[in-house]
Amino acid sequence: MHGGAELLNGWMMRVVTSLTEWKQVRLGIAGTVGVVPTMGFLHEGHLSLVRRARAETGSVVVWIFVNPKQFLPGEDFQAYPRDMERDLKLLEEARADLVLAPGVDEVYPEGFQTTVAVAEVSQSLEGAARPGHFLGVATVVCKIFALTQPHRIYFGQKDAQQCLVVGRMARDLGFLADVVICPTVREADGLAMSSRNVYLTPDERRAAPAVYRALRRAEQALRAGERRAARLSELMRSELGQERLIRVDYVSVAETGALRELDEVTFPCLLSVAVRLGRTRLIDNILLPVRPE
Ligand code: PAJ
Repeated sequence: MHGGAELLNGWMMRVVTSLTEWKQVRLGIAGTVGVVPTMGFLHEGHLSLVRRARAETGSVVVWIFVNPKQFLPGEDFQAYPRDMERDLKLLEEARADLVLAPGVDEVYPEGFQTTVAVAEVSQSLEGAARPGHFLGVATVVCKIFALTQPHRIYFGQKDAQQCLVVGRMARDLGFLADVVICPTVREADGLAMSSRNVYLTPDERRAAPAVYRALRRAEQALRAGERRAARLSELMRSELGQERLIRVDYVSVAETGALRELDEVTFPCLLSVAVRLGRTRLIDNILLPVRPE
């Protein structure tokens, strides 16, 4: 199956939920395969990855699986939003060829005992705030590589540390796929799209754009020549401090190897923020790949 056959009555998209069936399906695909891993409840951020894959590869495979291993005890695994019917409709419109949506018992059958640990780059920021999170991410993404054998695999810059963890793992383990990082898709007011945004109350939603404003303020200072990380952090905290509903988890100015905090900014440099708004945790970032002019 490649390219996807267009029928008179619309697009032919195949949904596979059994990994045994999947093996046969994957073996039957000729040409290049683009894979988009997701946890479902899709929004324009996810769909931008699907469209990019559609433009660059012959067959587009979208993985939908709310991965229990990357949620910590007490996090929102049970409550995580799910709407498969809507997801499938959106993916059909975006012309995905295949959806792979296995159950938990298939991904982690009885006796499962393997974990993939990407040591250094998993430690700081999200790894420090959510210990064990990246073990769950690296393990499932490793399994996605194994099952789908992608030529290209697509991730969003929104989850910058996840991109670094996956990129490191792919290089370390010799996966042949190109890891493609796509820009963060935002609402008109700057809020990064996220499946978790549905948790926000109207008041929290009004406060949320302060996260991107804080990042932009630091970015502008950086572009204007500020090189002291402490000063950039202060600017971000002061912007976030304008919203009384926001509690800051961390602000960070880090290099992009192991995400070590910087004193004096060097490039590439990642500005990132994590906050809590009520029961919702939001993250966002801006990457400065090179020294600004
Ligand atoms: P999920 O949060 O569903 O995100 C799936 C992919 O969409 C990730 O690569 C994420 O970075 C990207 N994405 C999310 N919001 C985006 C936005 N506003 N703009 C651009 N891309 C965006 O990330 C995961 O799932 C999981 O950890 C997963 C990789 C699937 C492993 O379980």
